[in-house]
Amino acid sequence: MADLDHLHTDLIAQVHAADSLDALDAVRVAALGKQGAVTALLKTLGGMSPDERQQQGPRIQALREGVTAAIAAKKAALDRAELDAKLARETLDMTLPAEAAPVGSIHPVSQVMDELAEIFADLGFAVATGPEIETQWYNFTALNMPETHPARAMHDTFYLNARDGEEARVLRTHTSPVQIRAMQAAGGTKPIRIIAPGRTYRSDSDATHTPMFHQVEGLVIDKGITLGHLKWTLETFLKAFFERDDIVLRLRPSYFPFTEPSAEVDVGFSVVNGKRVIGGSDGWMEVLGSGMVHRSVIEAGGYDPNEWQGFAFGCGIDRLAMLKYGMDDLRAFFDGDARWLKHYGFSALDVPTLSGGVGA
Ligand code: PHE
Repeated sequence: MADLDHLHTDLIAQVHAADSLDALDAVRVAALGKQGAVTALLKTLGGMSPDERQQQGPRIQALREGVTAAIAAKKAALDRAELDAKLARETLDMTLPAEAAPVGSIHPVSQVMDELAEIFADLGFAVATGPEIETQWYNFTALNMPETHPARAMHDTFYLNARDGEEARVLRTHTSPVQIRAMQAAGGTKPIRIIAPGRTYRSDSDATHTPMFHQVEGLVIDKGITLGHLKWTLETFLKAFFERDDIVLRLRPSYFPFTEPSAEVDVGFSVVNGKRVIGGSDGWMEVLGSGMVHRSVIEAGGYDPNEWQGFAFGCGIDRLAMLKYGMDDLRAFFDGDARWLKHYGFSALDVPTLSGGVGA
């Protein structure tokens, strides 16, 4: 039938001429849709005699298949062309220079935390963390400060509202509860070497105190640990941190409920152009609290104090940053003043490394 051939040629030409997906779809509807030309032909099969149907049927089916295949091929070609165009449109010029000035900076507290992690990693210490909202058991009781202990009052603690039937929780007043958590995590059988930097809270505010501040805790648990290990570790740490060899330490007998004996550690400073600089021994500055872990604390952490000993120390990170980088008002640390951050902040690319110098 010449009509069929003609229709076939005509439809294929229309498919080829379609220059967009919309135009192609219009051709598809006109040919194969409910009211389409090919669909109309298929409908005529029902009214044909069996002979006629046998002859026409395959031809009409072939027409339908041919047009369907041509539409599919054209659609694939149009899709490909559209993708190519999109890729060409969205090309990035990789040779363009990067933006000139990075805007953000690393806060000195974060910088010092990174420096601490780096220095202590070299001594075999891992970094541990604990929650800032603590139970009184972790913050006090397990650290040898039972409910009636007067040392609890010295902590200017923020107490949270108690939940039904529970004891009130506290914002941790120091990082020492991580000592207990680290011992529990190690299961009472393995040596421990960790530092735990993080936020701590006390209801106190002036030029050198903010209600939220940062501490780093250090804990070593092993067999045969002595005060000598503590002193060497602190000396090694402070020399690496302040990047000077003339760091002099003075251990002053002190009292913490969770260490026995306890020592407060002073570092010598010298006066250069009227300013205090760490190193030398013109005067002494208190930098951290420390001691041998108290038997009761070792026990609360699930270790046998007859077998295991340890030392611990706690140190204000903000104070370390002030001493090393020369800021004099702690409150500015938490003001979020962009000019202060620009002046005292560090480049994100200046990652402290022992080989490159932890002072970056
Ligand atoms: N937790 C003590 C404080 O906040 C510091 C400290 C830690 C002292 C570990 C001794 C041992 O003041």
